[in-house]
Amino acid sequence: MATIEARDLTKVYRTYRKESGLRGAIKGLFYRRYDETRAADRVTFQIDEGEFVGFLGPNGAGKTTVLKMLSGLLNPTSGDARVLGFVPWERRNEMKRQFSLLMGQKNALWWDLPAQESLELNRAIYGIDRDRFKKVVDGLSELLEVGDKMNVMVRELSLGERMKMELISALIHEPRVLFLDEPTIGLDVVSQKRVREFLRVYNEEHRIVTMLTSHYMQDIQELCDRVIIIDHGKIFFDGALDRIIDQFSATKVVSLTFAEEAVRDFSAFGEVVAQTPVSVQLKVPRAKVTETCRRLLEACNVSDINVQEIPIEEVIRQLFGERAAREPAIPAAV
Ligand SMILES: Nc1ncnc2c1ncn2[C@@H]1O[C@H](COP(=O)(O)OP(=O)(O)OP(=O)(O)O)[C@@H](O)[C@H]1O
Ligand SMILES: [Mg+2]
Repeated sequence: MATIEARDLTKVYRTYRKESGLRGAIKGLFYRRYDETRAADRVTFQIDEGEFVGFLGPNGAGKTTVLKMLSGLLNPTSGDARVLGFVPWERRNEMKRQFSLLMGQKNALWWDLPAQESLELNRAIYGIDRDRFKKVVDGLSELLEVGDKMNVMVRELSLGERMKMELISALIHEPRVLFLDEPTIGLDVVSQKRVREFLRVYNEEHRIVTMLTSHYMQDIQELCDRVIIIDHGKIFFDGALDRIIDQFSATKVVSLTFAEEAVRDFSAFGEVVAQTPVSVQLKVPRAKVTETCRRLLEACNVSDINVQEIPIEEVIRQLFGERAAREPAIPAAV
């Protein structure tokens, strides 16, 4: 049995549209108008034991909505899901004890308490044994390097320190499933790296199932072998990170260095990305790379040639840019 399973999971948000003026108000009494947003549209996937999956998509794609349904915070409009065998929105205690949702944009800790006391409250809620709790918190705070901050009021912590405390709080009951919704948002590069490193080590040691959303491609690249990409509520890719390049990048980058100055127009060979008197970089359609290289070697005095994939970050950026331009997100009026 898969640890997480979503089948045709659908969420339609309905927001009442108020029309302006008295006429609109009266009309509204008889004839209500709604805006509908299909935030998740027949979302289907399975995640197995120990997997660390990146959940990608542009703003408003439906990532948080799906994670909220899988965490039992939202009821779906239709469809089905199981997390550790439980239907999440039935909100069984057995499930609550085994999963965690961390939302980078919201805080779960009490602002006016030191982190230590906030954690202590959670210990009581989950009914965790004191010795076990101490061991887990000590271990996590050491790994995250916040051992000396445990008695500082949460509101006085830096953003990075607070996020680390949120992580500890999400892990004190040693969940088997972890949903991370932008855990590194707003953090500086050093803290991002620290959190990333922590997540990598934690996942390796505990074989915990993790679903991570992040707008930082580096998080995804360093942590996730598999990615699920969603846009306008629909999943359009589910597979190995490397396959994104194969599937969505139509071009490769050919870099040439010349033995002597070669100032000329290379546009017949591909799209010129950069050029100096002794080098040029060209974007070339995948299928034409071999032939183009041969033509370039014949045409110029080449001292070095190098063919590279476009960085995944750029592929994703292009992909989302194209999709946004093709299908603008206009909510359907009903
Ligand atoms: N409570 C709500 N009521 C109405 N519409 C909502 C509600 N929550 C989200 N939406 C809409 O549903 C869509 C998906 O939102 P969601 O928050 O799931 O996106 P996301 O992928 O998490 O985006 P982001 O990357 O910006 O966090 C958006 O169009 C959003 O405006
Ligand atoms: Mg979100």
